[in-house]
Amino acid sequence: MHLKIALLAGDGIGPEVIEQAVKVSKAVAKKYNHNIEWTHALMGASAINSVGHPYPKETHEICLKSDAVLFGAIGDPKFDNDPSAKIRPEQGLLEMRKKLGLFANVRPTFTFPSLLDKSPLKRERIEGTDLIFLRELTGGIYFGDRGRKDNGNTAFDTCTYSRNEIKRLAIKGFEIAMKRSKKLCCVDKANVLESSRLWRETVQDLEKSYPKVDVSYEFVDAVAMRLVQWPNSYDVLITENLFGDILTDEASVISGSMGLMPSASLGLKNALYEPIHGSFPEAAGLGIANPLGTILSAAMMFEMSFNMKKEGEEIRNAVNWSLKEGKVTQDLTEKGSKGLSTSEVGDYLAGLIK
Ligand code: IPM
Ligand code: MN
Repeated sequence: MHLKIALLAGDGIGPEVIEQAVKVSKAVAKKYNHNIEWTHALMGASAINSVGHPYPKETHEICLKSDAVLFGAIGDPKFDNDPSAKIRPEQGLLEMRKKLGLFANVRPTFTFPSLLDKSPLKRERIEGTDLIFLRELTGGIYFGDRGRKDNGNTAFDTCTYSRNEIKRLAIKGFEIAMKRSKKLCCVDKANVLESSRLWRETVQDLEKSYPKVDVSYEFVDAVAMRLVQWPNSYDVLITENLFGDILTDEASVISGSMGLMPSASLGLKNALYEPIHGSFPEAAGLGIANPLGTILSAAMMFEMSFNMKKEGEEIRNAVNWSLKEGKVTQDLTEKGSKGLSTSEVGDYLAGLIK
């Protein structure tokens, strides 16, 4: 099959981890006789530096024409520390999500048997954790009205959701739940927020169409707590944009390293795959970044965008093997031992697949 993939390396460690995902994808493509056409495009701070915009028009065109987008990371401290900066890398990411209509952000959290003792949580608490967050990605407070009043002394951000926005996300959640353990948790703050009450109402209406799915409704503060107490008591969780942002960072450390978790952002026509970690600017260029989150994002891409289950499985098996054999970057080695470089991990995995 001929696959067109847009490559947005982005900032910080983005280019290094993307390079490894490309190596691994090429190895899989070769083995299964696929032909991949890669197109690089600018994104984030690096795009601001070269063309003055974090999500240039050309990048958008390239994404629209691709079968999938593989993305590294975004962000640069130069902008974080300047609250008056008019153009920020993150605006590019939000613009891309909105313009490509990527409303459903799939963020799994799972543990690797060989890494159970790397987690900050006790082994017996996390064993068997395998959950999926479905985060709404193009609405809510991220995209609502915001501004200043009273001569700049009061600021506001508004959270707005329509029934349709909630419904399309929730339907995806029910569909994923049907393929798994048929357990769905709707995360909200319906004891306080009107938008959350509409979430609850909408999900309750949908329950009738999915009688086999067991739905629970939980407040976001309680979920934040139970997530670190009994993460393996959850399966599929659906939630709005900001709650999902926060909870998925919290959940990501359960596996032992934030560098491990992949994600998919799905729209009606387009899809983007990226690790959930940030641009880790302190590590850029040092060859110490863990590429596994990006490589596992490529696995999700094969499975979800191209419906190539074997190819995805091939990548996952290689990753599991590398973890078991200790062929890992420094963040996952025993204290004092050096570990492989970012690029050596990529080479090792590509070699295994071959
Ligand atoms: C994420 C990131 C982004 C978000 C930032 C970079 C805008 O934290 O993908 O979770 O808040 O959505
Ligand atoms: Mn985030």
